[in-house]
Amino acid sequence: MPPAPGRSKLALLATLFVVAACHPSAGAPPETGAGVAARPAAHFPEGWRFEAGGNASFARDAMVSSNSELASRAGVEIMERGGNAVDAAVATGFALAVTHPSAGNLGGGGFMVIRMADGRTAALDYREIAPLAATRDMYLDEHGKLTDKSVIGPLASGVPGSVAGMTAALAKYGNLSLQEVMAPAIRLARDGFVVDSALYFSLRSSKEKITRFNGSAVFFPNGEPLQPGARLVQPALARTLQLIADRGPDAFYKGEIADSIAAEMKRDGGIITKEDLANYKPIWRTPIRSTYRGYSIIAMPPSSSGGITTVETLNILETYDKLPPFGSAHYDHLVAEAFRRAFVDRNTKLGDPAFVNVPVAELTSKSYAKELASTIDADESSRTPRFGATAGEPMHTTHYSVADSKGNAVATTTTINSGYGSGVFIRGAGFFMNNEMDDFSAQPGHANQFGLVQGEANAIVPGKRMLSAMSPTIVLDKDGKLFLVVGAAGGPTIITATTQIILNAIDNHMTLADAMRAPRLHHQAWPDTLFFERGGIAPATLDSLRAMGHHPVTRGSIANANGVMKVDGGFMGLSEPRSSGGAVGY
Ligand code: DON
Repeated sequence: MPPAPGRSKLALLATLFVVAACHPSAGAPPETGAGVAARPAAHFPEGWRFEAGGNASFARDAMVSSNSELASRAGVEIMERGGNAVDAAVATGFALAVTHPSAGNLGGGGFMVIRMADGRTAALDYREIAPLAATRDMYLDEHGKLTDKSVIGPLASGVPGSVAGMTAALAKYGNLSLQEVMAPAIRLARDGFVVDSALYFSLRSSKEKITRFNGSAVFFPNGEPLQPGARLVQPALARTLQLIADRGPDAFYKGEIADSIAAEMKRDGGIITKEDLANYKPIWRTPIRSTYRGYSIIAMPPSSSGGITTVETLNILETYDKLPPFGSAHYDHLVAEAFRRAFVDRNTKLGDPAFVNVPVAELTSKSYAKELASTIDADESSRTPRFGATAGEPMHTTHYSVADSKGNAVATTTTINSGYGSGVFIRGAGFFMNNEMDDFSAQPGHANQFGLVQGEANAIVPGKRMLSAMSPTIVLDKDGKLFLVVGAAGGPTIITATTQIILNAIDNHMTLADAMRAPRLHHQAWPDTLFFERGGIAPATLDSLRAMGHHPVTRGSIANANGVMKVDGGFMGLSEPRSSGGAVGY
């Protein structure tokens, strides 16, 4: 297949927008070095919106890749002041809460996977939890029908974990003080920053949600979204951040910020109380460790489904000595069938391990993967079983990647779920609350906002963490050295996009630039549909997949990833080519 020659006008416009939004380092060298010499330009289908062989940012010592160039710069600033990758991740996380309000947050939760240069690894779970007053059927109306209250408004929020998580990570693995790492975020909130077109379009598309609650004064000053070029100053948020920097997480969970959250909840019929906030604790967990073709995978365990589902998929694919060529129908077929099987397990067996017995060892074992792989027909798609037939017994988003000069690396994904979360903006404190309760099976067997059909293992229980797809992942090379830091936003497509970037880097020998620009597919078992990105599949491949029995459906874009790859002489970094952001290093 020849490299993509012609592109449509629309694709060209999209590419121009992306180039404007991404700011790869001016004059960044093409990906050079021994590790990269073995990575020739990929072949993408004709008409695909990105050209193969493109650039990413290059830096010698350290790199941060996130959905906000300003937030990536905050991380770099901290590393230039002597901070390590964890200090930088926390600085980037707090800065995202200022510059990327649709997803960066104080009112949400997340996961952090850490790999220190001395070999220590850690996984921090600061996922939100269901409030004490939550009930299993709280989102059903009197006729047993699912309402939209798990998605919009104050009832949609879980108890936020981000502040507890970021401060815990810093205390255990950082070098610098909370005040030092929060300084860039406080500056960005207090002095403001210039609104770019990405933020403008994002606000505009969420106008109804933001203005329905209390966000208008900050983001829609005259009833219109802040225009590109306007300065966004957030004094209330600056004050909140300063309180956290000065007094630590207690300011958020027990002090006046907790008062503001509880008051806002009470005013509009929410159920999060001061007791819920005071009880919140992040949890250090053992990362999921596995191997894939000699590389090591370090990934997030439950309450995320990310690590198990990624590893289960990779293990199935590893049973094939060599995958068919990228872009072929057989490649797409195998990858989709592997995802299908891993998602059946994900959606029926996984939940918060404090409430559900998750068979982690079995699901991530090579022998189980062999069993699953033996059920894949090389030329014919299987069918996802009817939901319920496989369910266990009743019992029951922005990503950023950081690497420093010492070999430490951090993969973090954090979320308020939908863009701008529940829409509820905490007056006086200056931030949005999440709508993470929708990640529970609000009605087991029925789809949530991502079309995910999940079971009893993920039903609502007070104090329980809702199952997540967030997949912050670190990959080491065959010598045990840092290779890739990656993860994504996008609901269940987080898992499939993260896995495909890993496949692209390992099996398809792509550069980071190609691995992230390559067209993506997605299969989540239910619905039994194979999703493709528009223009990302050759017509002949599509015909073959249909002939195999797949039900292909096109989508605009799949997922929003930010990655860093170690190459000889430094790091390549790239923020999502389909979205906005920036990879910055030094
Ligand atoms: O934790 C999860 O799986 C979801 N709350 C992630 C949501 C998400 O990625 C939305 N993003 N684009």
